[in-house]
Amino acid sequence: MKEKLISPSLLSADFSHLGRDVEIMNASGADYLHIDIMDGVFVPNISYGMPVLDSINKCASKPLDVHLMIVEPERYIDRFVELGADILTIHAEATHHLHRAVQMIKAKGVQAGVSINPATPVSVLEDIICDVDWVLIMSVNPGFGGQKFIENTYAKIARLREMIEKSGSKARIEIDGGVNGDNASKLFDAGADMLVAGNYVFRHENPSRAIEILKGL
Ligand code: DX5
Ligand code: ZN
Repeated sequence: MKEKLISPSLLSADFSHLGRDVEIMNASGADYLHIDIMDGVFVPNISYGMPVLDSINKCASKPLDVHLMIVEPERYIDRFVELGADILTIHAEATHHLHRAVQMIKAKGVQAGVSINPATPVSVLEDIICDVDWVLIMSVNPGFGGQKFIENTYAKIARLREMIEKSGSKARIEIDGGVNGDNASKLFDAGADMLVAGNYVFRHENPSRAIEILKGL
């Protein structure tokens, strides 16, 4: 059976008890920890940056799935690798030189991800699909947790699956935004490999149980 991976987003954690929430994730069935880095330019919000990621890295036992929502991400690839990123994802819309940036990430020995916003077609990935480890489809407009899932995402997953199969790429598909207990199984069935969930996990009375529910357990 296909793996159903979950990457809980710490953006919805309680920042006054961040260490505690990371420990809860360490003890859970989470596969990665999703870290949202926002610069207030690429997206209309600022989240947290390097010192916070450094602290998370020191107490997290799960691999780190770092999602950069920043312009010209190539400026900071080295730093985020040093800070412990296992997957480093950049936005196709945020750089003029996506191919170069992806090669920079891979040269550092970490998994390279490319993300696309809801209005960006899957077709922009055609010439890079064989170079990436992950494609992160945004299923909300990036910038905030707790938004409503965009239904067109299913059609994008189908188009991306087809591109991956035709090209022979080994890229895996990650979905980010508005994921919950009602749409998770449909997303996995549509071809997603990993789901990010912020609000659903951290607003749940039992975050570990929320992760199990997302995995269909
Ligand atoms: C949004 C971030 C997401 C966010 C998801 O820009 O990329 O990772 O934390 O949060 P939920 O699951 O609450 O939509
Ligand atoms: Zn994210």
